[in-house]
Amino acid sequence: MIMSSTALVAVGIFGLILVSFTGQCYGELEVGFYKRKCLAADVEKTVADVVKAMFFKDPTIAATILRMKFHDCFVKGCDTSILLDGSSGEKTAPPNLGIRGCDVIAAAKAAVETVCPGVVSCSDIIVMATREAVYLSGGGRYNIQTGRRDGFESRASNVDLPAPSISVTQSVAAFDILGLNATDMVYLLGGRTIGVAHCFLFQDRLYNFQNTGKPDLSMDSSLLKKLRLICPPNSAGRNTTKLDQNHRNLLSSFIVDNSFYSVTAANTWPSTRTQNKIHRYLLQDDLMVTEQ
Ligand code: HEM
Repeated sequence: MIMSSTALVAVGIFGLILVSFTGQCYGELEVGFYKRKCLAADVEKTVADVVKAMFFKDPTIAATILRMKFHDCFVKGCDTSILLDGSSGEKTAPPNLGIRGCDVIAAAKAAVETVCPGVVSCSDIIVMATREAVYLSGGGRYNIQTGRRDGFESRASNVDLPAPSISVTQSVAAFDILGLNATDMVYLLGGRTIGVAHCFLFQDRLYNFQNTGKPDLSMDSSLLKKLRLICPPNSAGRNTTKLDQNHRNLLSSFIVDNSFYSVTAANTWPSTRTQNKIHRYLLQDDLMVTEQ
């Protein structure tokens, strides 16, 4: 099958999220699971309509939902444990403190309950909402498997999400624990084609990397200059910068495309093996897809 690189990014990344993480969920998954369960009601469309309405008011919800899905699925599978309230639940773990988008899932759940009460899991609603968010952001449409059950356990102590400061090697190891290889990781990281990062999460690299009093010397100097302007020294770090630093298209951080890879591969991924993967799979305009 020949696909454009943009389509490949969307299908590859999100297909892999679904395929790879679903092994940790419960129940039989299938495309169109709720067609049998909800008969005349089209729950996927119901969710899509809610997401669409909210997206047109605030397009940044696409990135927040996508990130929420990753944070839910990385910790013991896609079971909505990230949304469960509780004083020591996953929501309270430091990597999840900035997670937004719960209101989108709550609104979609409420709408679904009116057409098919008591049947559709929130875990599936997150998956449906993410698919719609990716589609609305230009990433194409992909089939999703549904039929997940919601979990009942949510513990901050279970949250073992990779920290922003880790190396590529450590990142590969973190994904490996879940049975995902370096290629899977590269596809998945393409999810960061949309959205932003707060300065406080990487400010050390701009001014005092590993307590050297100097910036991270492996960084591209023009990127360093640009990020220093956005994140001034000794500031609280609340400013944000786009994860997709494509300067040729300022809207790129709202679009699911492959420019995140081009910029990242050029600047920040020193590992030749990882870079080769990026080039091989993602930077060509068209390529033969033989791997999933
Ligand atoms: C090694 C793995 C990863 C690390 C260390 C990481 C870390 C981060 C950090 C630090 C931020 C900025 C958060 C903030 O400033 O509030 C972020 C944002 C984001 N991440 Fe990741 N991430 C990883 C993998 C992923 C994956 C696999 C996906 C999706 C498939 C993803 C999707 C996103 C998105 C969409 C945002 C933007 C959120 C927004 O704008 O609201 N990340 N990530």
